[in-house]
Amino acid sequence: MASSASENRLLLSKIATNEKHGENSPYFDGWNKYNQNPFHLTENPEGVIQMGLAENQLSFDLVEERIRKNPKASICTAEGIEKFRNVANFQDYHGLPEFRQAIATFMSKARGGRVTFDPHRVVMSGGATGANELVMFCLADRGDAFLIPSPYYPAFYRDLGWRTGVQIVPVDCDSSNNFKITKEALEAAYEKAQNNNINVKGLIITNPSNPLGTTLDKDTLESLVTFINQKNIHLVCDEIYAATVFSSPKFTCITEVIQNMNCNPNLIHIVYSLAKDMGFPGLRVGIVYSYNDDVVNIGRKMSSSGLVSSQTQHMLASMLSDEDFVEKFLTTSAKRLAKRHGVFTDGLEEVGINCLKSNAGLFCWMDLRRLLKDQTFDGEMVLWRVIVNEVKLNVSPGSSFKCVEPGWFRVCFANMDDDTVEVALKRIRAFVGQGKKAQEQVQVKSPKKRWQSNLRLSFSSSSRRFEQEGVSVMSPRMMSPHSPMPHSPLLRATT
Ligand SMILES: Cc1ncc(COP(=O)(O)O)c(C=O)c1O
Repeated sequence: MASSASENRLLLSKIATNEKHGENSPYFDGWNKYNQNPFHLTENPEGVIQMGLAENQLSFDLVEERIRKNPKASICTAEGIEKFRNVANFQDYHGLPEFRQAIATFMSKARGGRVTFDPHRVVMSGGATGANELVMFCLADRGDAFLIPSPYYPAFYRDLGWRTGVQIVPVDCDSSNNFKITKEALEAAYEKAQNNNINVKGLIITNPSNPLGTTLDKDTLESLVTFINQKNIHLVCDEIYAATVFSSPKFTCITEVIQNMNCNPNLIHIVYSLAKDMGFPGLRVGIVYSYNDDVVNIGRKMSSSGLVSSQTQHMLASMLSDEDFVEKFLTTSAKRLAKRHGVFTDGLEEVGINCLKSNAGLFCWMDLRRLLKDQTFDGEMVLWRVIVNEVKLNVSPGSSFKCVEPGWFRVCFANMDDDTVEVALKRIRAFVGQGKKAQEQVQVKSPKKRWQSNLRLSFSSSSRRFEQEGVSVMSPRMMSPHSPMPHSPLLRATT
């Protein structure tokens, strides 16, 4: 007897079938746009360029060179196969001792060598995604909340809350002070949660920030530590972008701050991963590093559901303990990121587009407020739809990061080659240039390039034209891919 899809869904758990995965967002919709028509320099030059994926692809050549020169580091080569049995059989959730040592040393180097980490506190998980969920599992009960300064990583809803039932309470930050996290904003969010009978268990920060590409200064970090100490709540620091800092000011990590402060270390937890700093999101190396012994012990037991494969641990233990390689990689990667960031932001400036001044990350926080027809989130969606559908660039709108001001967009620049960057810049220049021209000559219309005529409207005061061309305004919810897709972003769960 055939049953309907909705009947079948009723047989599943409420937690799995609720909407708390947070994927009903233009952030994920943009990935689908790319998957449906991916740009290729020669095979699909009119396709969508993926600028919504925070991948670091600029220094793979160095990694490949090291792998080639060290065949013994892999258990899948003639030179390394003698270790195959031991490694393939290894499943201790404490991890290979040499891996824990190597990652602890690497974490120190990624923070400029100014702090050290104890390998015994390293707990493994499936990427920072798994690490963030694991920390929530240890610290909060269903219905409890964590404060998160906005704008923040869109997948936090899924990672932190979907399975654990933990709520997110945004701490509103805005461009008036370059999105600084102030004591007033923290207190306001905390108080609001309390007034709504929400039990706040902690604060999560991403430092360097995704999507801002900025680092928190020492004073701000100290004030955050003071805040969580006074409230006796936890501080989780997602430092996944630690080694992407490419220009001054230098990165100040939480470890550096707490070692000179009088605070309760049991409240401090770091989340880390090799997805961004090394460019290995596919290897699923996530780390929880907690100063709380109970969190280390409980987290380790829980981590058996998301261990890093022993083959990966084995390979990375060798690579990350190679001091010369790590030194060269970190320096070169930072230089290349700085260069790419410069090329990209200079290219934008040529057409009068500014980005928030940044010194880290794999993206820019682009200010397109002046291109909005209306200074509203609907206005932001109108512009986003033109950019993704007509200009064919998948950038991510600020609303998906819970930015409180419409008109900001995150644009990733390190997941492509130089030629693709040039094509992207060319499209942006043409888009903005054409918009300016159209603003001056409202009647001019080019029949060949449909997006150029649409662009005119993003500057105009009327939305009628969008409706005529079928480019209607849709809210993020309406645009979601709720049905199973062959290219679900879940299958490419990176960002
Ligand atoms: C702030 C932040 N945390 C966590 C993650 C997830 O990282 P991973 O691929 O290691 O699971 C990302 C990925 O973009 C991120 O930006």
